[in-house]
Amino acid sequence: MNKYCEQWDLNPLKLPQHIGIVMDGNGRWATKKHLPRIAGHRKGVERVQEITEFCGNIGIQALTLFAFSDENWRRPEEEVGGIMGLLRWYIRKEHARIKENNVQFRVIGDRRKLSVDIIELIENLEHDTRFNTGMHLCIALSYGARGEILRAVRKLVEKVNQKEIYPNDIDENIFEECLDTQGLPQLDMFIRTSGEIRVSNFLLWQLAYAELFFSESLWPDFDTKKLVDLIQQFTLRERRFGMTSEQIKKINQKSF
Ligand code: FPP
Repeated sequence: MNKYCEQWDLNPLKLPQHIGIVMDGNGRWATKKHLPRIAGHRKGVERVQEITEFCGNIGIQALTLFAFSDENWRRPEEEVGGIMGLLRWYIRKEHARIKENNVQFRVIGDRRKLSVDIIELIENLEHDTRFNTGMHLCIALSYGARGEILRAVRKLVEKVNQKEIYPNDIDENIFEECLDTQGLPQLDMFIRTSGEIRVSNFLLWQLAYAELFFSESLWPDFDTKKLVDLIQQFTLRERRFGMTSEQIKKINQKSF
């Protein structure tokens, strides 16, 4: 039994394989404390470090964090610059730790809009962790799910034009291989903090069978204990994938 699961009273056999989090509420957290918005993002990065370490420890296979959306480029220049500065700082500071902790790092999104030095930091970390076998840490940066789906469609059209595949070959598996998240386990659990009940263009394809959770906490207040509470709720949900409750019970009995 994993000692962290034991410590937090989590059933390791019922954990979500892949958790996606919309880390919302940094700005409101700072405003409530009469601080500049960037102070909220700074505190948000501390939570990223805490939650990532915890997920790795309990054996989550993939964690995808929404750090910066395609739409976030419209924010004031000063805030965009501040968030990019934090990202730079985070990747530089965490590079060695991520690598040594056997984490596989990946950035999803349209990275062409990022500055050259940030792209280089990302590519170096992706390269240095490509043979790691532990948790996938996936950061959604300059990311929008509709854009991701369009990129996948373009890749497929190109494959058809090159006669690598026929249109009739295209099934869900082939489509998923063209998404930024290719190779990651199915998304089981979606969390959005800050009380907003929206998906906001995050992992739209991948959300098909995910369990949705909305926390009232602002992201800088979202600590390990709050995540554990939600994971415990996740373990109690019955996931039927279109089947009946009776069928699911039979399948579960067989697997024990
Ligand atoms: C949403 O809060 C948060 C963001 C747009 C940025 C999130 C960025 C970080 C946590 C830091 C960088 C991440 C990593 C992985 C190092 P908001 O600003 O929309 O808050 P509000 O809705 O209260 O205004």
